Formats: sequence, structure tokens, C-alpha cells
Amino acid sequence: MNKFIMNNMPKVYFGEGALKTVLENEIDKIGKKVMLAYGGGSIKNAGIYDEVMTLLHKYDKEVYEFSGIMSNPTYFKVQEGAELVKENGIEFIIAVGGGSVIDCCKIISAQAKTDRDIWTMEFEDKQYPTEFIPMAAVVTASGTGAEMNNGAVITNEDLKIKAGMLGALAQFSVLDPTYTLTVPLKQVISGAFDTFSHAMETYFGKPLENNVSNEINETIMRNTIRNMHAVMKDPTDLNARSELMWDSAMAENGILKLGKVTDFQAHQIEHQLGAYTNCNHGQGLAIIHPILYKHIYKEGLIKFVRYAKEVWGIKDTQLSDEEIALEGIQRLSDFIIEMQLPTALSEIGITDKDMLKKVADSTNIMPGCCKQLTHEEIYDILLECL
Ligand code: NZQ
Ligand code: ZN
Repeated sequence: MNKFIMNNMPKVYFGEGALKTVLENEIDKIGKKVMLAYGGGSIKNAGIYDEVMTLLHKYDKEVYEFSGIMSNPTYFKVQEGAELVKENGIEFIIAVGGGSVIDCCKIISAQAKTDRDIWTMEFEDKQYPTEFIPMAAVVTASGTGAEMNNGAVITNEDLKIKAGMLGALAQFSVLDPTYTLTVPLKQVISGAFDTFSHAMETYFGKPLENNVSNEINETIMRNTIRNMHAVMKDPTDLNARSELMWDSAMAENGILKLGKVTDFQAHQIEHQLGAYTNCNHGQGLAIIHPILYKHIYKEGLIKFVRYAKEVWGIKDTQLSDEEIALEGIQRLSDFIIEMQLPTALSEIGITDKDMLKKVADSTNIMPGCCKQLTHEEIYDILLECL
């Protein structure tokens, strides 16, 4: 097991009515001037907006709205939000949404505390923010686990780079599964596949030998698969949506990563695909994962065999290790089809090979898994994804 330091996580309020409880318990920590940040309006249709507003007004808060945070949030949007915070002396940010809204606010929170350009600061000067406008995350669509950490994925449209930045850690996170009941099934499934991807990308990270984090991870993966089946069968199944919400938090709260190197090569490829095409995160991952794994499984055979047995329940002792590993990857592919996720880039309208070359060449190479890829291999993988 590798050395590790375990950081504190945000305080989590989970369950129906969690927002009310949060505000009752934490109101002293929330300044008077509050920015309420959200996306394209789903929270209004779901009645969540009214609930938040009513509670904030009850506690006499001065509310500044910041709306229109898009999926795959842009650096431009971060700057717009930071301006609003600075101009109005906002003291607290409440991000109400999925990963996109939460990520955007994490960086707004940091940008609002410095006059330096935070992109240049992080990517060129390799300096990371230490001061933040305090924030809370209210999750309305789960999957990314963004509410549990200080990483944020932001698209710089000028540079055509979608990259992970470091921003604020929510002071508290509200996970009320009833908020997710209005999320369309397609998004629930793509969000849950994102969770599954986080678990897999951690599981296959070095070291390959098993440890307690991997065993917890196997439970999270099995639980995610089981509840994705349940929610497909009955989209109104609140228990399944609740389980998926906590799986999502567990996959990104750091616990599965203890003693491991996280690799996230599929994520790095998908992020660049997102920078060029604005594709849905979970859908992009579903297309990339099986093909990536067919390229690397031989170098991580022990782990792929264990994954096949423990996650997919493959028991056939007549099979060789290589056959078991391949059967595990096949089960993953079958599951993706069963979940009605896309299996080819062409299914989501991506066919331009020259553009894919740019995606491959600009993808970060990660050394943490069983095999370190080259940009050429990533291009081959993307061509196979077509
Ligand atoms: O914009 P609105 O109108 O709110 O609609 C959203 C959006 O269309 C909708 N939605 C959210 N809550 C809803 C709802 N619709 C109905 N009812 C509700 N209660 O869902 C759609 C997708 O939302 P979005 O936040 O874009 O999706 P997701 O949560 O999948 O976040 C994706 C972003 O997170 C990044 C991704 O790269 C992507 O940019 N990630 C962040 C991570 C992190 N910070 O740890 C890790 C991930 O790997 C990921 O990269
Ligand atoms: Zn993800």
C-alpha cells in the first residue's frame, strides 16, 4: 500500500430535507450576501429553486443569482461569476446543480480572492489558490462526486483544453436524493456510469496488488451496477437513486484512493473530447472504457482477472487468466449496451478523424495504471471508438 495523507472531507448532510437541516445548523457560517449559482433552469422546474430562495429569505440573506452555468463549464463563465462576487462583496456561494455548477463555483470562489488570472497561476506558474470565498454544494444531479473534493473540471475555449483545476472544497454538501427525481433517466445513467468510471480508474491504478481500498471499491462498483439496473427498471425508484447518489460521493471522497495512484486515463481522453465536441461526460466515458481496457489489460492481467471475478462474478475455472480478463471487459461492454449508453463516437455525432488526432495529441498521458500510453496509441483508441 502506498503512503497517504487523509484530508478532511466536506461535512455532508444526506437525505430528504437535508437543505433545511443544513441551514438551521450552519446559518452562522453563511454571510449575509449569498450568491445562488445554478445551471439552465432545471432547478426551477423541480421546485428546488423556490425551496432554496424561501429558506435564504427566511434567514434574511441578500441573494445574488448567477445562472446559466452550462454543462462542461467554461473559463469565461468562471470569470463572469468571479466578477459578480467581487463587485457585490459576496460572502458565501451556494452551488445548486450537478458537477458543472459545483465545479464552476469552486473556481469562482478561488478567482474572486485573487487579482491574478487563475488559469495562468495554476497551469503556467504551478501555484494553487489558498484563499476562497466559502461555499456549499447542493447536489441536484449525482455522478461526478464534485461535492466531495476540491477538483474542478473547466473548459478553456480559447485554448481548447478541458482540464482539472484546484479550487474550493465545499464547507458542507447537501445530498438530498429527492432532488434527483426529476433528472431524466438518460442523465441518471450517464452520471452513474461516471461514478463507475471513477471507481474503475482508481481500481486499476498502481499498485496492482490488492488492498483494502480495492475491496471497498469492488463493493461500490457492484452496488453501482445493481442500482443502475434498478433505476432502469423503475426510474421512480428513490432507493436506487439514493444509493447511486452515495456511490457517487464514495467514489470521489478520497476513500477509494487511499494507498493508490489514481490514473484517470479514460477521463483525460474524454475531457479533451469534451473540449472539442462538448460531449456528455458519462457518455464519452462509456464509449472509451472498453476499448481502452482491451489495449491495456495484458499489462495489468492480475487486476483485470480480479475485476472480472469480483465485479462481474465470472467463476469459470476452465478459462485461462487472459480469457477471464477479456470476459470481464466483455461484460462491461454488454452492460453499457444494456444501459442504453452509446458504444461508438459516431452514435453521438463524432466522425471527424482530423479532430480526433488533435484530441489525442492534446490528451494528458497518465502513468498511474498498468500501461502508459503514447499519443499515437490514444489516437488508435479513438479511431477504434468511431
Ligand atoms: O443546467 P440545468 O438546467 O440545471 O440541467 C442540468 C444539465 O442539463 C441537468 N440537471 C441537473 N439537476 C437536475 C437536472 N435536470 C433535472 N432535474 C434536476 N434535479 O442535468 C444536466 C447535466 O448536468 P451537469 O452538471 O452538466 O452534469 P454532471 O453532474 O454529469 O457534471 C458534468 C461535469 O462535471 C465534470 C465533467 O467533466 C463535466 O464538466 N466532472 C467533475 C468532476 C469533479 N469535480 O470531481 C469529476 C468528473 O470526472 C467530471 O469530470
Ligand atoms: Zn468523471
